[in-house]
Amino acid sequence: MSAGNLVLTGSRRLGPGGVEIGPLALGLWRFTGTDVGQNAALVEAGLELGMNLVDIADVYGLDWGGTGFGSCEENLGAVLRARPDLRDRMVLATKGGIVPPVPYDSSAAALRAACEASLARLGTERIDLYQVHRPDMFTHPAELAGTLDGLIADGLVGTVGVSNYTPAQTRALAAHLDAPLVSTQPEYSAACLDALRDGTLDLCSETGMLPLAWSPLAGGRLLAPRSDGGVRPELLATLDRLAEREGVDRAAVCVAFVLAHPTAPVAIVGTQQPERLESLQAALGVQLDRNDVYDIVEASEGVPLP
Ligand SMILES: NC(=O)c1ccc[n+]([C@@H]2O[C@H](COP(=O)([O-])OP(=O)(O)OC[C@H]3O[C@@H](n4cnc5c(N)ncnc54)[C@H](OP(=O)(O)O)[C@@H]3O)[C@@H](O)[C@H]2O)c1
Repeated sequence: MSAGNLVLTGSRRLGPGGVEIGPLALGLWRFTGTDVGQNAALVEAGLELGMNLVDIADVYGLDWGGTGFGSCEENLGAVLRARPDLRDRMVLATKGGIVPPVPYDSSAAALRAACEASLARLGTERIDLYQVHRPDMFTHPAELAGTLDGLIADGLVGTVGVSNYTPAQTRALAAHLDAPLVSTQPEYSAACLDALRDGTLDLCSETGMLPLAWSPLAGGRLLAPRSDGGVRPELLATLDRLAEREGVDRAAVCVAFVLAHPTAPVAIVGTQQPERLESLQAALGVQLDRNDVYDIVEASEGVPLP
């Protein structure tokens, strides 16, 4: 019997000696509404709850009813112009490098132009964390490193990270960068354990990079009723059993699972409903021990561990 709570609820740091980040972050992929007051209320609700990392991307707005590339950043820019006090309270993270329909372009000219366009849409002088959204396998990492170091040297960007990179791609980029890669952003949830298995979280253990887990509720699929959403019913049953024991809802257990890895991932939650942000905070009171997290892994993978 292994005792001990594995859920890590303290603040994280963005790089060695870097700024403090709450264990939950606010994701704005679905930030497509255009009511500035409502949008500001969502961002403020997140900040009040300690979700000070705000994650967005230039490409957000192409789906979820958005009006196109850049429109979620424009919506956030409108909030920041109306409420500059909110900008001061957040660690602003955005991404570039997805260029539909190419689909990826991290060449020097394209990525610098993407970053400058993000700054203009967001109406800010500096992006705190600039992330390469997906690897452009046809840009040499030395060229990309030069671009990222240049953005930092010119003061446009505070720190840099990657997203959806393999560990080998991450290492190749890091080898050419002067600046540290402070974060990597993989999909990670009870329904998507790839980062646990493919070396991404191991690389975070090795280098101190902060894992920023996207879609910690599998984009809502983990909240679907038993038969919907394409998630194994055994996994939903395990999550519900733990939720009942802990006196919380299933979503809180899902977030707690993400926080339970020893690299202290940040869970980037994507709800657009302020009251749901509050109930997700219940994850910080959930206790999961080794038995619980391995039960979740086995139920997720559908096979007993050897
Ligand atoms: N780097 C990448 O390639 C990448 C890819 C995807 C996402 N991301 C980042 O990760 C963030 C989160 O992704 P995500 O939106 O897929 O995250 P998520 O938190 O896994 O899913 C959020 C979705 O679940 C729904 N949901 C249903 N029941 C819920 C409940 N009880 N509590 C909370 N949400 C519930 C939400 O709907 P309501 O809004 O109606 O609550 C929303 O549509 C994005 O905003 C983005 O910043 C990054």
